Amino acid sequence: MLTELGRVPGGPSPGLLPSRPMTSTSRYVHGTHPEEQRRLADMNTLINRVTLDAVLPVPRERVLDLGSGLGQLARSLARATGERVVAVERSPEQLARAVALAAEAGEGGLVDFRAGDAMDPPLAASEWGTFDLAHARFLLEHVPRPQDLVATMARAIRSGGRVVLSDDDHEALRLWPEPPGFEAIWRAYTRTYDRLGNDPFVGRRLVELLSGAGLSPRRIAMPLFGACAGESTFPALVTNIAVILDGAREAVLATGGVTAAAFDDTQAALRVWGQRRDAAIWYTMFLAEGGKP
Ligand SMILES: C[S@@+](CC[C@H](N)C(=O)[O-])C[C@H]1O[C@@H](n2cnc3c(N)ncnc32)[C@H](O)[C@@H]1O
Repeated sequence: MLTELGRVPGGPSPGLLPSRPMTSTSRYVHGTHPEEQRRLADMNTLINRVTLDAVLPVPRERVLDLGSGLGQLARSLARATGERVVAVERSPEQLARAVALAAEAGEGGLVDFRAGDAMDPPLAASEWGTFDLAHARFLLEHVPRPQDLVATMARAIRSGGRVVLSDDDHEALRLWPEPPGFEAIWRAYTRTYDRLGNDPFVGRRLVELLSGAGLSPRRIAMPLFGACAGESTFPALVTNIAVILDGAREAVLATGGVTAAAFDDTQAALRVWGQRRDAAIWYTMFLAEGGKP
């Protein structure tokens, strides 16, 4: 059952749909099928530590996490601050999984999961302008109007509070030595974002977006989201890329940038490449923080 704010108090239910109509504000390229949810959960395991080290949560901070996905980072933020995090997620499938994962971990109380659109988050009138930190990771790349989203985040925090954005810039990825055909596939994958009306290079715009929302940008960071052969995280990072591409196969082919045969050959080559001793994935998240005067 949902409250008027779209809260998900106990667990997944047919009532997971939000209580008000959602505006059509983003198109999510990855989808929410079980293999994709496994990828997202594994990716959280890989990068939540470096994310937290860059977000720098402070004890007692009240956090709003938008586009919270499976809720693992929201739970980490709650553990770090000692405060219940308000997490907003649009997809009923993601929310249901997030609630289940939190319950499995015995952490059901750490996060107030709410169904809703990050562009118009389900907050009570009394909550606007009260959060210490509004945070979004890997969300701006999926919304056609990222500036409006950051303006919404700025409205949600109190004066003296902060907004932290972390997102992708798909041009930053380098696999080396490059697997055969990979660059063409990655370029076509990047084009799928344009086609959905989203910005695959939003990472480089984070400071501009903070400033455009009337916030004072005050620091940037580039948490590492890569590894080389020999590091324990390397195989999982290769799998992360392969699953992302598999999930976007039809959209990539629809760009006309690669043929189906080339796509499949490159995916096979990527898996072989993952066994090389001299391979490296160079990638970072782009992170920026702005304060509210
Ligand atoms: C790549 S996932 C990232 C999830 C989480 N922030 C993380 O870093 O693990 C992006 C999430 O944003 C959600 N999403 C996309 N557009 C949204 C919107 N307009 N409002 C709320 N959630 C949205 C998707 O359903 C998905 O769960």
